[in-house]
Amino acid sequence: MEYSRGVAAPQASRPRRPVDPAAPLAGAEIVVAIGGGIAVYKIAEVVRRLTKADAKVQVVMTPRATEFVGPTTFQTLSGRRVFTDPWDLGQDSEIGHIQIADRAELVIVAPATANLIARMAAGMADDAVTSVLLATRAPVLVAPSMNVNMWNHPLTQKNLATLVSIGTHVVEPGEGFLACRWIGKGRLAEPADIVEAAAHVLAPKDLAGRRVVVSAGPTYEPIDPVRFLGNRSSGKMGFALAAAAARRGALVTLVAGPVAEPDPHGVAVQRVETAVQLQAAVEAAATGADAVIMAAAVGDFRAASEAAHKLKRGELGATVALELTANPDVLAGLGAARAARGGAGPVLVGFAAETRDVVRYARAKLAAKGVDLIVANDVTEPDAGFAVDTNRVVLVDAAGEEALPVAPKRVVAHRILDRVTALVAARAT
Ligand code: CTP
Repeated sequence: MEYSRGVAAPQASRPRRPVDPAAPLAGAEIVVAIGGGIAVYKIAEVVRRLTKADAKVQVVMTPRATEFVGPTTFQTLSGRRVFTDPWDLGQDSEIGHIQIADRAELVIVAPATANLIARMAAGMADDAVTSVLLATRAPVLVAPSMNVNMWNHPLTQKNLATLVSIGTHVVEPGEGFLACRWIGKGRLAEPADIVEAAAHVLAPKDLAGRRVVVSAGPTYEPIDPVRFLGNRSSGKMGFALAAAAARRGALVTLVAGPVAEPDPHGVAVQRVETAVQLQAAVEAAATGADAVIMAAAVGDFRAASEAAHKLKRGELGATVALELTANPDVLAGLGAARAARGGAGPVLVGFAAETRDVVRYARAKLAAKGVDLIVANDVTEPDAGFAVDTNRVVLVDAAGEEALPVAPKRVVAHRILDRVTALVAARAT
């Protein structure tokens, strides 16, 4: 999913309630405005995901959209009567388009057909969807879906550019096999991506314009062309941090060791393999950054020399001694460089993966590496550490310790970023 943000977001219709960046959809009033295209069937999944995230969903449909999937489906999924006709006095007195437009905190237009995009760009209000859109002051997120030639048509692109110029957000269509039997761009973005884009729009932007560097995953230190020294880090915590910082408006560089995680949306990802490569990438990105979060499990040692060819078992004998050289400590290097500049430089956050005496070791690392915050966890606990989706961490800084409750890594990421945001703001003043 490509995701472009409009330049001049319209003013929200009313004062925003406090929004938790870890769950920006919870409690949000969201209008799902459905245009008339074959992808309507996928919007049932969008509505289901929104309600599962505790959003309050009001569905509005064009007359054509109701011919693809009936309002009963959406009424059942949203728990609210679907609005389809501003000229039906019964409907409009019960749930008028102005009330719907006023109440909305976000309007998602999906599928946005070429025709609907054209009508939006022209400022028309000739059906339920366009009437709500013209009357609302909430941000609008458009998910286009159409034939590839309609998508590529200069008029469609011009209409979309018009929408972006007034602050409309766009979830770009994907490429693939289209319902019209063409292969190309025009397929509606995946429901999960549309919902993630909605969360992006609604999340508070308390890291707007801040430059955040995150490292993630293990390092692989080659022994020969087929073998390496590695570790069990899955990269999940670091990837969750990068995605969370991007959602909060930061410009994020993620330096990732070898893991299977896909690139998070809106994050510049650099893939590396060894500790030395990771150090070069992190140090380059750290120049001018506001915060560096070292979630990577950097290998402490590498083979003193890498064999040019595969080591043959028969030539090695029963016991093998492998000579190791210490890798640079990337985080300690950043801490020392900052101290040498009299403290000028980014907020520095380290992780401490421990198997006992978690807080004591974390406090020692805080001092030894000269950093602002250590996120410590006991990797032997079943709900923390490598390869699981939850984490149980203790935040250790100069002032004390805070044990966070066990939670999904994407939630823990936001609680860590709450601290980072405060530290960045404190350094800026
Ligand atoms: N780290 C680093 N460079 C290394 C090793 C670790 O930058 N060569 C960073 C990690 O990214 C993490 C922090 O230092 O943020 C602590 O890592 P950890 O492996 O827990 O600690 P070590 O410094 O390796 O100490 P020990 O092996 O004694 O636990």
